[in-house]
Amino acid sequence: VVAGADRPRLPAVGAAGIGIEAAWEVLRDQVLPTVFPADHPRYLAFVGGAPTAAAVLADAALSAAAVYGGSELEAGAVVAAERAAARWLCDLVGYPPQAHGVFVSGGSLANLSALVAARHARRTASGTLPGTVVAGAAAHASVAAAAGIMGCTVVPAGAADVALRGADLVPVLDRLDPDAVVAVVATAGATNTGAVDALDELAAVCAERGVWLHVDAAYGGAALLAPELRSLFAGIERADSVTIDPHKWLFTPFDCAGVLYREPAVARAAHEQRAAYLDPVTEQGHDNPSDYAVHLTRRARGLPLWLSLVANGAAAYADAVASCLATARHAVRRIEADPLLELATEPSLSVVLFRRRGWAPDDYRRWSRRLHGQGLALVTPTTLAGETVLRLCFVNPLTSAADVDAVLAGLADDRG
Ligand SMILES: Cc1ncc(COP(=O)(O)O)c(C=O)c1O
Repeated sequence: VVAGADRPRLPAVGAAGIGIEAAWEVLRDQVLPTVFPADHPRYLAFVGGAPTAAAVLADAALSAAAVYGGSELEAGAVVAAERAAARWLCDLVGYPPQAHGVFVSGGSLANLSALVAARHARRTASGTLPGTVVAGAAAHASVAAAAGIMGCTVVPAGAADVALRGADLVPVLDRLDPDAVVAVVATAGATNTGAVDALDELAAVCAERGVWLHVDAAYGGAALLAPELRSLFAGIERADSVTIDPHKWLFTPFDCAGVLYREPAVARAAHEQRAAYLDPVTEQGHDNPSDYAVHLTRRARGLPLWLSLVANGAAAYADAVASCLATARHAVRRIEADPLLELATEPSLSVVLFRRRGWAPDDYRRWSRRLHGQGLALVTPTTLAGETVLRLCFVNPLTSAADVDAVLAGLADDRG
């Protein structure tokens, strides 16, 4: 990893090109070596990724074959393959047969697309345009961003960094006209803490009031593959829409995020674009991926997930998620055994938050930058109830116990 000032000087974009071979050498030898790859076994910051070889192969083939992924007219069987991948996610959620989804660039676009569908459903039912999104305090920043794009206000429910319960939601909805509410957004796997909201309780409150429930399981949805964690997600199948990002913990390259709808017809009504020049597509009457999210031209992002599932089998996916959870448990044991370290909160899914006793915020930052600069690991601090702590997020089955030990060993120094 080449930090800041040491970055290479890149060739200028000129009227005359340098040729593909020289350009490739620049990319290979100067540009890509500066990357800290998200699938590095010691990339434990944010939410990394760990694409399988089959997924990378499909991703490269998509570019090479110039696949336009918007419609069956152009993309042929690619659409069926993506549909199969979306169906696998729908089955994971426990959705009924009519459920359907599509792949977009990220959890942010998935959340926006779901909220646009929710608003359309409310407007169709009530004749008025709702303007309020109710979101748990742990909702990802993309939910507020989506609400902003839609010109909506966010009303928070519950407390920060704590799972949202039905009882937190009731007083918030009591103060709102149901016709003013776009949706309630719950989180299944909060980015900062891994916390999973009480989905069953929230689904019951929403169903009683006829309010759309969107569950953002962008990171946490993969944990549906862990039988011992399944009960944490009880009620997710009652959500009107769900976000799950295969590019986070389901082993595809960036970018690939699924937005799933229990009743897809309403999403289609919200998102389908009509134009004279598109009539030849519409006339074919296919169920096209373009029609289910905020996009028209799109990369067929579900293909890498599909090919990887076909190549590796679904059982390998469950094994890989189990392996990440086991590595997280190893980290917890190491932290509990080290007198210098202390868990900052009860770990959830594969996120572990902990403090290094005696360190101030600058110590954490210095230590994190040093590891990054050395190319050893990417581990970044976060805050929990105002306190700076360290955060580990395990989504790579190739991260070993030895990787965890190597990272934690560096915390013995007096100052970061
Ligand atoms: C829970 C959750 N929702 C949404 C997002 C946004 O996803 P993306 O970065 O793919 O747009 C993230 C990103 O980490 C997330 O953790």
